[in-house]
Amino acid sequence: MTENEGVKIQEPKGKLGILLPGLGAVGTTIIAGTELVRNGFAKPIGSLTQMGTIRLGKRTEDRVPRIKEFVPLADLEHIVFGGWDIFPDNGYESAIYANVMKKEDLDKVKTQLEAIQPMKAVFDPRYVKRLDGPNTKTGQSKMDLAEQLMQDIENFKKENDLDRIVIVWCGSTETYLDYDPVWNSIESFEKGLRDSHESISSSMIYAYAALKSGVPYVNGAPHMTTDIPALLELSKKENVAIGGKDFKTGQTFMKTLLAPGLKARQLGVRGWFSTNILGNRDGEVLDEPLSFKSKEVTKLSALEYIFQPDKNPDLYGDLYHKVRINYYPPSGDNKEGWDNIDIFGWCGYPMQIKVNFLCRDSILAAPVVLDLALFIDLAQRAGRSGIQEWLSFYCKSPMVAEDLYPEHDIFIQLMKLKNTLRHFMGEDLITHLGLDYYE
Ligand SMILES: NC(=O)c1ccc[n+]([C@@H]2O[C@H](COP(=O)([O-])OP(=O)(O)OC[C@H]3O[C@@H](n4cnc5c(N)ncnc54)[C@H](O)[C@@H]3O)[C@@H](O)[C@H]2O)c1
Repeated sequence: MTENEGVKIQEPKGKLGILLPGLGAVGTTIIAGTELVRNGFAKPIGSLTQMGTIRLGKRTEDRVPRIKEFVPLADLEHIVFGGWDIFPDNGYESAIYANVMKKEDLDKVKTQLEAIQPMKAVFDPRYVKRLDGPNTKTGQSKMDLAEQLMQDIENFKKENDLDRIVIVWCGSTETYLDYDPVWNSIESFEKGLRDSHESISSSMIYAYAALKSGVPYVNGAPHMTTDIPALLELSKKENVAIGGKDFKTGQTFMKTLLAPGLKARQLGVRGWFSTNILGNRDGEVLDEPLSFKSKEVTKLSALEYIFQPDKNPDLYGDLYHKVRINYYPPSGDNKEGWDNIDIFGWCGYPMQIKVNFLCRDSILAAPVVLDLALFIDLAQRAGRSGIQEWLSFYCKSPMVAEDLYPEHDIFIQLMKLKNTLRHFMGEDLITHLGLDYYE
């Protein structure tokens, strides 16, 4: 036990299980990449927990440790992966299908990937209309399915001799659901599970099972899961940390880099048109209008919150923002995003910015999954429960306390994350005031 000015953090002893509902492109890329890294074949590029540093104290002190040496995180050597999927393919077959990493790289860790056998999923095609698969559970009710998931979690822990488990949703994006009173409280939700209520989606069943098992849950997709009142309440009641949602990777990552810069210089924006082509299974699912609606809601909100048009009507009051995702199979996982940004400067003179990002979706997402898993485990060991807003750095649609607007500016998010780590370890928070250097 480390004790620093009130924050007690359990040491990360033993092994950490990372369970992923969804062993598709992102799921297999995080597993394959971690295996490549721990076997010395690759570097964990893009991961703050593995590569990042943190400044401590004054700039003159030159104390800049690696984050993983500063806070007690689980070591990559002590991670065991597992998961659920509606397809029975093992980790190697699924990674080959996803076609993100080269076969020659996957072959280096083939044995480890082949050992990943997906558990039977809780799945209902009503919530992911473009998919169906054979590797699914059957049960008397949604409560029965939740109990089967709890049993899976317990078995996985025992079989792998784990100390702790975290769950990160890497499954498909579910359809947009309108608010339903069954989400109002734990009681109404549990009754809904017993009655197999149609407003309880598959991901909500996983999240319920996780929280009841004391397992932190992160939502990597844009659909509603732990943001419903019943599951928020449950996370507090069971003292479990939750985070999400929707991994911030390609185009929105770029948006949250560019928009704060334009706003910082008080440059106006009249229009922002974003379009993407992608050809992976995620793209196919998002081609369905109701799944796209879940994504559109999270993708559109970032600019609104960064620009605050109500506070800056002259600059952003007339902003026209449009987001499109187009399923285009030849692109595979290599998404191409175009942004046309119509800006204006001094005396209203117009200018344009064009961004053409040829990215690899799952290569960008994998380190985000790893960091979220390691940090949510840290939060849990630090006794945190409920929403972990400091992890919004990784999310397109950050979960926040009721009545609070989400912070989308990536630089504020990073400062919040690092200050949270300093706070955990009893170090001074860094405000960047720096007056004392000149006194
Ligand atoms: N790649 C990125 O940059 C990125 C960014 C933000 C969000 N996401 C989200 O991450 C998720 C995964 O993306 P992906 O590219 O790996 O998609 P994918 O289609 O390759 O993989 C999703 C997997 O989940 C499985 N699945 C679906 N429903 C399931 C269920 N109920 N239980 C268990 N498995 C289930 C599918 O069979 C599939 O294998 C998607 O929701 C996506 O929107 C990805």
